[in-house]
Amino acid sequence: MLELFLFLLLTLVQATVIGPPFDGAEQCPGYNAININEQDSSLTADLVLANDACDLYGSDLPHLKLLVEYQTDNRLHVMIYDADEEVYQVPESVLPRPSSQSTNPDDFALRFDYQPEPFSFRVLRGDEVLFDTTGTNIVFETQYLNLRTWLPDNPNLYGLGEHSDSLRLPTTNYTRTLWSRDAYGIPPNSNLYGNHPIYVDHRGAAGSHGVFFLNSNGMDIKLDKTDDGKQYLEYNTIGGVFDFYFLAGPTPKDVSKQYSEVVGLPAMQSYWTFGFHQCRYGYQDAYEVAEVIYNYSHAHIPLETMWTDIDYMDSRRVFTLDPLRFPLEKVTELVKYLHKHNQHYIVMVDPAISDSDNGAFNRGRERSVFMYRDDNTLYQGAVWPGVTVYPDWFNPDTQAYWNNEFERFFNKKDGVDIDGLWIDMNEAANFCAWPCKDPARYSLENNLPPLPPPVRSPPRPLPGFPRNFQPIHGYLAKSSSELGTRDTKGQKAGLSGRDLISPQYQIANAAGSLSNKTIDTDLVHAGKGYVEYDTHNLYGTMMSSACREAMLQRRPEVRPLVITRSTFAGAGAHVGHWLGDNRSEWDKYRISIAQMLQFASIFQIPMVGSDVCGFGGNTTEELCARWATLGAFYPFYRNHNELGSVPQEFYRWPSVASAARKIIDIRYRLLDYLYTAFHRQTISGEPFLQPLFYVYPADAQTSDNDAQFFYGDAILISPVLDQGQPSVNAYFPNDIFYDWHTGKTIYGKGKTITLTGIAMTEIPIHIRGGFVLPLRSQSAQTTAELRRRGFEIVVAPNADGYAKGQLYLDDGESLHPASSSTVEFEYSHGKLDIHGEFGYHAEQVMIESVTVLGQSKGPVRRRDDILFDAERETVSKQVNVPLTGPMVISF
Ligand code: GLC
Repeated sequence: MLELFLFLLLTLVQATVIGPPFDGAEQCPGYNAININEQDSSLTADLVLANDACDLYGSDLPHLKLLVEYQTDNRLHVMIYDADEEVYQVPESVLPRPSSQSTNPDDFALRFDYQPEPFSFRVLRGDEVLFDTTGTNIVFETQYLNLRTWLPDNPNLYGLGEHSDSLRLPTTNYTRTLWSRDAYGIPPNSNLYGNHPIYVDHRGAAGSHGVFFLNSNGMDIKLDKTDDGKQYLEYNTIGGVFDFYFLAGPTPKDVSKQYSEVVGLPAMQSYWTFGFHQCRYGYQDAYEVAEVIYNYSHAHIPLETMWTDIDYMDSRRVFTLDPLRFPLEKVTELVKYLHKHNQHYIVMVDPAISDSDNGAFNRGRERSVFMYRDDNTLYQGAVWPGVTVYPDWFNPDTQAYWNNEFERFFNKKDGVDIDGLWIDMNEAANFCAWPCKDPARYSLENNLPPLPPPVRSPPRPLPGFPRNFQPIHGYLAKSSSELGTRDTKGQKAGLSGRDLISPQYQIANAAGSLSNKTIDTDLVHAGKGYVEYDTHNLYGTMMSSACREAMLQRRPEVRPLVITRSTFAGAGAHVGHWLGDNRSEWDKYRISIAQMLQFASIFQIPMVGSDVCGFGGNTTEELCARWATLGAFYPFYRNHNELGSVPQEFYRWPSVASAARKIIDIRYRLLDYLYTAFHRQTISGEPFLQPLFYVYPADAQTSDNDAQFFYGDAILISPVLDQGQPSVNAYFPNDIFYDWHTGKTIYGKGKTITLTGIAMTEIPIHIRGGFVLPLRSQSAQTTAELRRRGFEIVVAPNADGYAKGQLYLDDGESLHPASSSTVEFEYSHGKLDIHGEFGYHAEQVMIESVTVLGQSKGPVRRRDDILFDAERETVSKQVNVPLTGPMVISF
C-alpha cells in the first residue's frame, strides 16, 4: 500500500514538477476512426480524440481526417491532417504533389491495414509489415506531432539527411534533427544545411521500401529501442501534418525511382559541368584568379571552370564588383579569356542583401520584397557584408526583382557573363545570434573576416573603409493591402497562440533555439502569410528555384547550373548541391562518400560533391592527392578552400599535380559514361551513383559499406581511406571485376581483399563484368575538345561472356536538345552488336576501337586488325567507323 502510495506520489511529482517524461506520448489518448469510407483505391475517415486531451507540448486537436490513397501500384499515400485544414502544409508551389494513376487494386504492391479504436495503422507488402503504429497513439497538437513505427531488429535504414553520419544509420539512442543550419565543419550527429525526411528500409532478400514524410517543420526523428528491446522510429515534429508516401520497392533502385515520382526528376546538367572546377575563398583580386587559370594550363591540368567566391564583391555586397580588386574591365577580360579557351566562369551569390545604400537594396526595398517584422520594419541580420536584409521568396514580386538583378549584373554586354551560379548561406544563415539586437556589430571593421590587402599588380590604395552603415529601422514596407494578404494561416483555428520562437517541444537543433543564427521564426511571409517557423526548411530550395528561373531568363535555351548549400526534398529538380564547409581532415574525406551517396542515390540530387582537399584548415600533400583522385568520382568535382588556409590548387605539389593529371584523364575518358547514366537518372530516377547494397541487395555484407561505391552500374571505386596507407581493404561481391589499371580479372567471392601498393596518385577502380563502357579514346584539356575525340568501346564480359551498355549523346547544353542519340551496345561471345537511335550527328563521332577485357588468349590465327595484349589480357580491334547507324563488330 505504502509502495503504491509512493509510486503515485512520485508520478505526480514527475508530472507536475519536471513535466511528462520524453516518452510522454504514451499517455496521450489517441484518436478513434469514425465515418470510415473504404473504396477500391482510397479510404477516408474522421479521427476524433479518444479521450481527454493530454496537451503534452501544446493543445491536442480534437478533430482530424484520414486520407489513404493507392496512388500507383507502388505508392501509397497516407495523410492525417486537421479537420479544419488550417494547419500549415508544405505549399504546392514549392513541392508540387504527384498525381494518382488509375490502378487495379489487384496490382497494389502495398496494403493499408488499420485498427479503428484507438486508431493505428500498418503498411504491408505481402506478409511483410513495413510500417506499424500498433499499440501507440498518434499525437497531433498545435505545436507537436508524434508518431511511432515499430521496426525489425537491427534494421538497415538510410537517408533522413542531411547528415554526416554513416550511410547506414545508427539505430539506438540516435536522433536525426531536421532544421537547416549553417553547419561549419559538418559535425556528426547534427542537423546540417538541408532536409530530406525520406528513409530507405533495406531488408536484404526480403526487399526494400521507402518512407517519405512530407513535412517541412523542424523535427527530431528518433531511432531507439524500448526498455523491452523493441526497435522503433519515431517522428517528433513541431508543426505541419502527417503526410506519408510509402514506396514499395522492392529493390533499393526501385525505391529511388519511386521517390523521384513524388519529388520530381533531377535536372539534367550540361556536359561541361562535369569538368574539373577550381575555387577558393580569398583570391585577392582578378590578377590572382588569372594567375590560377594560367598555372593550371601551365601545369597541364585541365581546368574547365574557374570560380570566384564573395571576394569579387564590393565589400561583399551581392550584385556588386570590388572596383579595385575586381574591376569590371578586368573581370570582363578574364571571362572573355576563359570563354575563348572553352572554359567557364562561376561566381557566388548569397541571398542576404546589404542594407547599405546600393542599387539592389534600394530596388528591393522599393518593391518590398524583403522579410519584414510585424511592425512592418525591415528584418535585419548580419552576413558577410555586415547588416543585411533577406529576400522573401514567398512574395509574388521577388522573382521579378531577382530576375532583374540578374539581368543587370550578369548580362553579357556590360556585366559579368557567368556560365553557372553558386548560391550559399541560404539556410538562411545569420551571424547575429537570436535575439539579433545589434547586427551592425558584424561589420568589416570588426567581427567579420577582413578584406584582402590591396591589389598587387599594379598596387593601388585601399578603398575608403570603414564604410557607413546606415541604420535602417523605420524603413517602411508597403501597406499590407498593397502586399496582398498577410493572413496568418496556421495561426487560426486552434492554432492561434502558437509560440513561434520557443515552442515547448525543443528539437535538438545544434544551433540552439530555433531562431538562433537564422531568420527569426516568428516572421510572416508575404503572399499567403506563411510563417518562417513552418517554412524555414524551404528557404534554400526556394532560393534555388528562383535562381534557376533567373538563370533561365538570361539564357532560356541552356541548362542552368546552380549549386546550392541548403536543400529540401525535391531540390534536385532545380539545382545541384555541394556538401558545405568540411575540413581538410581524413575523416571528412572518408565521410564525403556517404554524404554524396545519400544525395545522389536517395535524395535525387545527383549533381553533388564535397570540397576537394577540404575547406577549413590546412590540407596536406597526401590528403589533397588522395582527395583529387576520390573527387574525380564525385559528379560535381570542385577544389575549394577557405580564406586563410594554405593554397591547395592541384599544381601546388608535384605529386598532387600528377594525381590530378592522371585521374582527370580517366574521368574525362569516362565522361560520356557519366553523362549517359546521369541523363538516365534525369528521365527515369534510376540512380547513377550507388552504394554497394543498391547493386547487390541480397548480399548482407554490402549493407553497411560506405567506403566504396559504384560509379554507374559498371565501376566500383575503392578509395584508400587512411593517412600513410598505400592499401585498402575492399569488398568484392560475388561477381567478376577487371582492374582498370592492370586489366587483370578479380573473381569476387563475397570477401574483403586487401589492395596494396596504391601510390598517392592512384585510386583502385574496377570494372564490373557484364558491362560495355563507351570511353573517349583520349582525354583533353577541356570538355569541348573532349567531345571531338573518338570512342574506344571497352567490353567487360560477365561469366557468361555477355555485356551490355549505353551511350547517350546530344549537344551537351540545350534544355531541349534538337537531336540526340541513344546507342545500345550488346556483346556476346566475340560479337558486339550496336543498335539504337542515332539522331545526333553534329560532331563526327567515331568508334576508333573495341577492346574486350578478360581474354587470356588471342585469336587462333594471327590477324593484323586484332591486337592481343597478354599482359593486360585484352583483345582490341581497330575499327574507325562513324557512329551514325547500327553495326556489328566481330572478333
Ligand atoms: C560559406 C560557404 C563557403 C564560402 C564562404 C565564403 O562558408 O560555405 O563555401 O567559401 O561562405 O563565401
